[in-house]
Amino acid sequence: YSTPADAEYDVVVIGGGPGGYPAAIKAAQQGLKVACIEKRGSLGGTCLNVGCIPSKAMLNNSHIYHDTKHGLKSRGIEVADVKLNLDQMHKARVKAVTGLTRGVEFLFKKYGVDYKKGTGKFLTANEIEIAGLDGSQSTIKGKNIIIATGSEATPIPGIEFDEKKIVSSTGALELPQVPKKMVVIGAGVIGLELGSVWARLGAEVTVVEYLNAIGAGMDAELAKTFHKLLSKQGLKFKMGTKVNGASIEGDQVKVEVEAAKGGKQETLDADVVLVSIGRRPYTAGLGLENVGVELDNRGRVVVDNEFKTNVPNIRCIGDATFGPMLAHKAEDEGFAVSEMIGTGHGHVNYDVIPSVIYTHPEVAWVGKNEQELKEAGVKYKTGSYPFVANSRARTNDDTDGMVKVLVDAETDRMLGVHIIGPNAGEMIAEAGLALEYGASGEDVARTCHAHPTLSEAFKEACMLATYGQAINF
Ligand code: FAD
Ligand code: NAI
Repeated sequence: YSTPADAEYDVVVIGGGPGGYPAAIKAAQQGLKVACIEKRGSLGGTCLNVGCIPSKAMLNNSHIYHDTKHGLKSRGIEVADVKLNLDQMHKARVKAVTGLTRGVEFLFKKYGVDYKKGTGKFLTANEIEIAGLDGSQSTIKGKNIIIATGSEATPIPGIEFDEKKIVSSTGALELPQVPKKMVVIGAGVIGLELGSVWARLGAEVTVVEYLNAIGAGMDAELAKTFHKLLSKQGLKFKMGTKVNGASIEGDQVKVEVEAAKGGKQETLDADVVLVSIGRRPYTAGLGLENVGVELDNRGRVVVDNEFKTNVPNIRCIGDATFGPMLAHKAEDEGFAVSEMIGTGHGHVNYDVIPSVIYTHPEVAWVGKNEQELKEAGVKYKTGSYPFVANSRARTNDDTDGMVKVLVDAETDRMLGVHIIGPNAGEMIAEAGLALEYGASGEDVARTCHAHPTLSEAFKEACMLATYGQAINF
């Protein structure tokens, strides 16, 4: 299994996240000789170690805790003395993470990918120097190099992360105690997911957002509904508000805020401040300057539609380059880039990349939203079906939200689907398939859906979009 340090590889992947590790496996499955360099000491990247997986563990368990405490009595279940054991909740998170990261290591062995533990740096377009985690120094050569180095939290100038009181998502996943007061800067995906976690566990959470809508560009109607539902759950929002600074004073963080348009200043006190204003590509220390790989003005590696940089044997995928910063987008690119290297063909359909926010209710969408269709001058019809009219949601007493379907006004082709409601993240897969296959609203409206399921709400929303009428609403 081990290969000499100066071996010639067909493919060297730098970064073992959800972009890099599937790229390495797909390349190896095609019979290519592959190495993957990862400096974290564990595979799976941001997603498995400090992103998707641990955040979903905390979201799921904090939801169960909150529901057990507040939502069971009306269902005829009485549980006395519900207590939070935060240490155990963290252990459950760590167990989910280590199980999955070790699983990737096992897959590398299974498919014969050489796992190099260390930091990779370009010496030339084919030579990568590895500063090993064990202190060793070596150089490997590859015909094709795939940059999959991901992203990092964007800081606010003048506000430094100490990962204890002023935290990025990484610190926010591991807080040893529930803060009494938490200020979240940025009402995007991370702020709303992790803000929900700590609010459910008992923190008073205030979210400060520069814009006037939450959800970082989601369909405006859904964003309004989502805002109302999260407010009902106890999250406080300061919209249209900018942060001028934050400083640690004793046990507290003082956050200076002001209306975005200018105006009265205010100081918010917090035990913990989460800065979640977006992520930026991470290519520091990679030695791109040694090979002249071009970056754009936002630090993204510039690629063509075959993921090639301006140095043709060097390609880039995932968060380090263009497109949404999502694990499944990185994964599909990883698969496609290695197919391109192996066979000359590979494809990602950027029009059908789903987005999910794993709060309760969940929010999920795929395709175009109303703002985008209006901007593009596309004539469309809408079908919005509330979960309160869906029998399964009623049975489960979990009826907040709706399914909204957008179809072309002339052809009925489905253009976008936006769901806020229970299990939206699972339901959106059917919409993705419909869009991928160019389905019309009527195609879905005429597809038999099992009863009683939440997915009937999608079918009925399609009836509304296509015929203007549903049966149960
Ligand atoms: P990364 O996962 O960042 O992996 C890059 C890897 O490269 C890292 O492990 C890094 O250590 C390594 N590396 C960097 N430089 C070098 C070097 N020079 N040498 C060797 N190794 C190097 N996305 C979703 O789709 N769903 C979610 O639910 C979701 N939740 C998230 C929650 C949080 C809190 C965060 C922060 C992100 C979340 N994301 C989610 C986004 C997702 O994690 C990223 O889109 C995804 O991880 C990007 O994959 P990647 O392979 O491009 O990069
Ligand atoms: P984001 O881009 O989702 O949201 C950032 C928010 O901060 C925006 O609403 C923006 O207007 C606001 N903002 C920016 N600067 C500000 C300032 N100075 N003051 C106040 N508000 C400000 O970024 P976020 O939440 O940090 O997440 C980063 C990325 O990670 C996401 O875009 C997503 O790609 C990925 N992610 C995906 C998840 C999922 O798929 N469920 C979960 C978590 C992260």
